[in-house]
Amino acid sequence: MDLIESIKENARKELKRIVLPEAYEERTLKAADISIQDKIADIIILGSPESILADADRLGLENIKDATIVDPKNHDKKEQYAKLMVKLRGHKGLTYENALELIEDPLYLGTLMIKNGDADGEVAGADNSTGDVLRPAFQFVKTKPGISVVSGAFIMILNDNEFGENGMLVFADCAVNPEPNENELAEIAVATAHTAKVIAGLEPRVAMLSFSTRGSANHELVDKVKNATATAKQMAPDLKIDGELQLDAAIVESVGRKKCPDSEIAGKANVLIFPDLQSGNIAYKLVQRIAHAEALGPVLQGMAAPINDLSRGCYVRDIVNMIAVTANQAAGIS
Ligand code: ACO
Repeated sequence: MDLIESIKENARKELKRIVLPEAYEERTLKAADISIQDKIADIIILGSPESILADADRLGLENIKDATIVDPKNHDKKEQYAKLMVKLRGHKGLTYENALELIEDPLYLGTLMIKNGDADGEVAGADNSTGDVLRPAFQFVKTKPGISVVSGAFIMILNDNEFGENGMLVFADCAVNPEPNENELAEIAVATAHTAKVIAGLEPRVAMLSFSTRGSANHELVDKVKNATATAKQMAPDLKIDGELQLDAAIVESVGRKKCPDSEIAGKANVLIFPDLQSGNIAYKLVQRIAHAEALGPVLQGMAAPINDLSRGCYVRDIVNMIAVTANQAAGIS
């Protein structure tokens, strides 16, 4: 069974309640329909029931009638959620009146449903920017205990087995932190190794990427990657990690052997940690477009509940896949 099929199979074992705030958007509504039909999740759709059911009818989506539809402007928990918002962020100046307005925004409603125990996870971002999806999550769901940054990993599924493990590599951070500091970079490495293990089923071998391999260049940016590698080792002493490495030294066996003969990672890495968001985001899109790889993600790591973002260029199948990943995370597989 391939990875995506096994993630879907896991999701079917324990139906989780996944909220979709953007079901006014055609791809999301189609993904909801497929997910209900394939029994991947219990789907909660946010929006006006009349217009959602009319869209479903127009598109011939027969399973949408089995979704729970919550109208953000008119539902019986509106005041309860607004009070919870004030309890959580009153100290930041949020008033009850502001909260009542915000809770009509489906992206806020989705996160409050999770916080209140009325949903297990969320998938959004086919229509909204990453920042707009993440902000309500950062404000109300927050990070897991002991984690300071949320980051975004992509499981890259290549068309052959030349690189990574069985043609799979996990990239991060490709979605959230524009300029992580040393400590954040170390946390991202540890979190991504965890994602590689529990979602992709890999035994993680982590390469901390740079434009330098083991001191071939001197620069403060290289020092940052070196120091982050040392910090990650302290955070997770059993983690197989090496850095700083250039990309070829990390994934090409002959180059790894030549440049770092003593390394158990060089040339064999299956988890690639990029030094910043520019390099991580460019890299995943480059591999996705030029090598025609499947990019599963971003899988958000470190959030207290699973909330996953989509690229606005996503396809219906990407949304279905992320619903399944989110259900896996909600089931405690991550
Ligand atoms: N992890 C956890 N919490 C965070 C993080 C993080 N990485 N970043 C910010 N926060 C928290 C802050 O602590 C703060 O919490 P508080 O209000 O309780 O004090 C809150 O979120 C807001 O923090 P700001 O610094 O004001 O963050 P802002 O909202 O300006 O930006 C954001 C956060 C939106 C994630 C920003 O870092 C961003 O835009 N990142 C880039 C996203 C992006 O464009 N990615 C590329 C596209 S994705 C793709 O292609 C798949």
